[in-house]
Amino acid sequence: MDALTLLTQRRSMARLIFPGPDEAVLDQILRAGMRAPDHGALRPWEFVVAQGAGLDKLSSLFEEAAITDKEPIQSIARAAKAPYRAPLIILVIARTKPHEKVPCIEQVISAGCAVQAMQMAAVAQGFQGIWRTGKWAYHSLVRDAFHLKSEDAIVGFLYIGTPECPISPPLEGDIKQYVKHL
Ligand SMILES: Cc1cc2nc3c(=O)[nH]c(=O)nc-3n(C[C@H](O)[C@H](O)[C@H](O)COP(=O)(O)O)c2cc1C
Repeated sequence: MDALTLLTQRRSMARLIFPGPDEAVLDQILRAGMRAPDHGALRPWEFVVAQGAGLDKLSSLFEEAAITDKEPIQSIARAAKAPYRAPLIILVIARTKPHEKVPCIEQVISAGCAVQAMQMAAVAQGFQGIWRTGKWAYHSLVRDAFHLKSEDAIVGFLYIGTPECPISPPLEGDIKQYVKHL
């Protein structure tokens, strides 16, 4: 797939099954994340790879968060199941650093760019993915488990795997509505 097709035809895929990326594919995905635009070369991100036992740990964490919130039993079960929607998840954390020229917002944006780059690197290698947050990304129990400072953020859980079904083409938006020329 050429680069322009990858970018202009990009879709997300929520239905992800095994196999997930092997080590070599994952390495390229993470390298793509590391090449996100990054003001001041701060590398204001951390990529936490979860598969197998890692997904079990995320599952327990989400379940515990749902129990803490006194969610109904079905929601607790849904929280526990969430991480198993793909063979692999990359949790992307914006780990911001005080910097006189690079405000936190720019650092969080960089971490967001890393998510997009990694999703595209997965697609370029024959896999699919979806960028999710959901309430657990903002839950204090989850934030604490990953030792986030108040200015840090979980910018996403990037679910990656093999698409379960063919992916449909994107809906073409009316570009004119979103673009102005000065
Ligand atoms: C920061 C961020 C958080 C998101 N969180 C979720 C989410 O929790 N659940 C979800 O279904 N989609 C979420 N999405 C949207 C999907 O990644 C995806 O873009 C959406 O399903 C539309 O599909 P498309 O990418 O094929 O257009 C999120 C996107 C972003 C940028």
